[in-house]
Amino acid sequence: MKTYRIARMPGDGIGRNVTDAAWAVLEAAAKGDFKLEGTEFPWSCAFYKQTGAMMPADGIETLRGFDAILLGAVGWPAEVPDSVSLHGLLLPIRKAFVQYANIRPHRLLPGVQGPLKSEGFDIVCIRENTEGEYSGAGGRVHQGTADEVAVETSIFTRTGVERILRFGFEQARKRRGRLASVTKSNAQKYSMVFWDEITHTLAAEYPDVEVSSYHIDAMAARMVMAPESLDVVVASNLFGDILTDLGAAIQGGLGFAASANINPDRSAPSMFEPVHGSAPDIAHLGIANPIAAIWSGAMMLDHLGEAEAARRVMTALEKATAQGIGTVPGRDRTDAITATVLAALD
Ligand code: NAD
Ligand code: IPM
Ligand code: MN
Repeated sequence: MKTYRIARMPGDGIGRNVTDAAWAVLEAAAKGDFKLEGTEFPWSCAFYKQTGAMMPADGIETLRGFDAILLGAVGWPAEVPDSVSLHGLLLPIRKAFVQYANIRPHRLLPGVQGPLKSEGFDIVCIRENTEGEYSGAGGRVHQGTADEVAVETSIFTRTGVERILRFGFEQARKRRGRLASVTKSNAQKYSMVFWDEITHTLAAEYPDVEVSSYHIDAMAARMVMAPESLDVVVASNLFGDILTDLGAAIQGGLGFAASANINPDRSAPSMFEPVHGSAPDIAHLGIANPIAAIWSGAMMLDHLGEAEAARRVMTALEKATAQGIGTVPGRDRTDAITATVLAALD
């Protein structure tokens, strides 16, 4: 039987609850057709407190041998600064494995009441995931003095911008043929003008895709006022980060927003995780919504080539939410939602 080796990383807070839920559903979906062989890695803020590092020095090399990574969430800011935990685990994995395309779908599952009047939207946000505003270039001088200056440099490369836009164009071709490219080229005259130029050049290669350019501020308003007008939205690392929490909000909340950090060349493993974080405010309550993590797991199955099993997971999720379970934030327990999804799997 075909076996996939999966690195399981629950991480911090609700990461544990939601990845356990996702794993149970994925194993059930695999039953009889293929096998998921999970290896758990406890890398997290707790691991940092014990060892002084978020992962071992050879952590990246260890993960490289897996077919995919299933991640919960990283961060426990009360004990480890985010600047340490995220730069010690999540962000290096995305970069080292060239997971440059972060795919984040936003649509309402049946039975979920979103906050908007407009319910018929189906958006895929393609977030650049390895460079841009997250390049980590910069520094601080004259620290602690009145003359202090902090610099955080965004780095946009032609390779990086071209490949994420191309990925977006290809997605648009497979969907409804519309691509919205998001920048702030009215204020940022180097990187964002560069991005707009590349969008314009590539558009000539994809005459079948209808391309529009938006400024990030206008896009934020459009996602609320007219989300049904959008299909594929491509944005830089930071803009994509912000737009996808907005996307999560319009699809009912962070408990519904899935994400796939994809290495399209398959030269290294891809990583699947919900958009949300470790949710310290609800971490011990047993009420984290596992739907985003389960949906991310379905994206993992799809990426592994198990499209049929991925579809079964999505159908089970939809059947569960159509019954009302998990649709009201904070009402249903993680275990109850998971059990309903499992029962809906045929
Ligand atoms: P968060 O996403 O953890 O939480 C924001 C709000 O959404 C909270 O009120 C939380 O209770 C709620 N929420 C999140 N997921 C939920 C779910 N599945 N079900 C129900 N409610 C849910 O964002 P934050 O509070 O800004 O961050 C907490 C920590 O997580 C920080 O350390 C942050 O850096 C980290 N973080 C990590 C990731 C990641 O690993 N990919 C993503 C975002 C934030
Ligand atoms: C996300 C998260 C991360 C990001 C943080 C935790 C660094 O918000 O995956 O959306 O900004 O990429
Ligand atoms: Mn985010």
